[in-house]
Amino acid sequence: EREAHGSSLDGVFPEHRPRRLRTTTALRRLVSETTLRPRQLILPMFVAEGADAPRPISSMPGVVQHTRDSLRKAAVDAVRAGVGGLMIFGVPQRRDAVGSGAVDENGILNVALRDLRAELGDETVLMADTCLDEFTDHGHCGVLDASGGVDNDATLKVYADMAVAQAEAGAHLLGPSGMMDGQVGVIRHALDESGHIDTGILAYSVKYASAFYGPFREAVDSQLTGDRKTYQQDPGNAREALREIELDVAEGADAIMVKPALSYLDILRAAAEASPVPVAAYNISGEYAMVEAAAANGWLDRQRTILEVLTSMRRAGADMILTYWAVEASSWLD
Ligand code: PBG
Repeated sequence: EREAHGSSLDGVFPEHRPRRLRTTTALRRLVSETTLRPRQLILPMFVAEGADAPRPISSMPGVVQHTRDSLRKAAVDAVRAGVGGLMIFGVPQRRDAVGSGAVDENGILNVALRDLRAELGDETVLMADTCLDEFTDHGHCGVLDASGGVDNDATLKVYADMAVAQAEAGAHLLGPSGMMDGQVGVIRHALDESGHIDTGILAYSVKYASAFYGPFREAVDSQLTGDRKTYQQDPGNAREALREIELDVAEGADAIMVKPALSYLDILRAAAEASPVPVAAYNISGEYAMVEAAAANGWLDRQRTILEVLTSMRRAGADMILTYWAVEASSWLD
């Protein structure tokens, strides 16, 4: 019978058997290249001014707009779960053309940062979104000029004030996410001048004009009509990502970010190779919603998919990942 099936090849082919290293759990564990640890995960959180109960975000099942109180409790829980940091976004009650609530020390984001720093001290890395879109009545990331375009340099002045307010409120790392030219340099200068030399900058250096931000618009009650294509990058472009990183590092970025992550793993890999500072990936709202929706329909195994998504970002080169799954994923990794 053996002869009939070509016994002349027995013991000769295949010469190479990559499957050998996959035969047992212990072997697979031994040769596994990519680690995924709770300390590498950063939890983005939303806090709504005037909220008396946490408000669910329908397009992001499991994520809420927190009250000040529920934010404090959830933050403590996240830190206990071992996450590496928290990124806080504010949802104001009132908005105006220049985003005054972002600079106001009594604005919701600054108040929440103060709460969290008082509660957690240096036990975690407290980060703040340094951007105006949550606070403007037109929803753009900066202030507008007479013709309705986003005025880069006028926006920088507001970012400088916002950065100082956030540093004073206790943020360890600021996350400028507005894609204005020169934002990192202006913020660094403002922080240094006001004595906040140890407040760092996690620069959203590479940020694409993406459809995957959709659910985030609901998360922050965004007022935006139109798009951000005059300041965020064209999804088809790779080269300018490296230029943005180079500029931000020269301007003083302590770490950089690539965002979105899942459709941009090639960019993440290139960033990891080029960057002299740590690289973050933002596993954004649409990437979250997509998996949650499919899992809710029974079309994907939720836990395996989430861990695969996060592992792929680490494999592509992210040192840290901002993800709405940070706490839950941490519980699976322990
Ligand atoms: C801007 C900002 C956005 C996100 C983080 N910071 C929205 C945008 O640029 O349109 C998106 C995060 C997500 O989608 O999860 N302040």
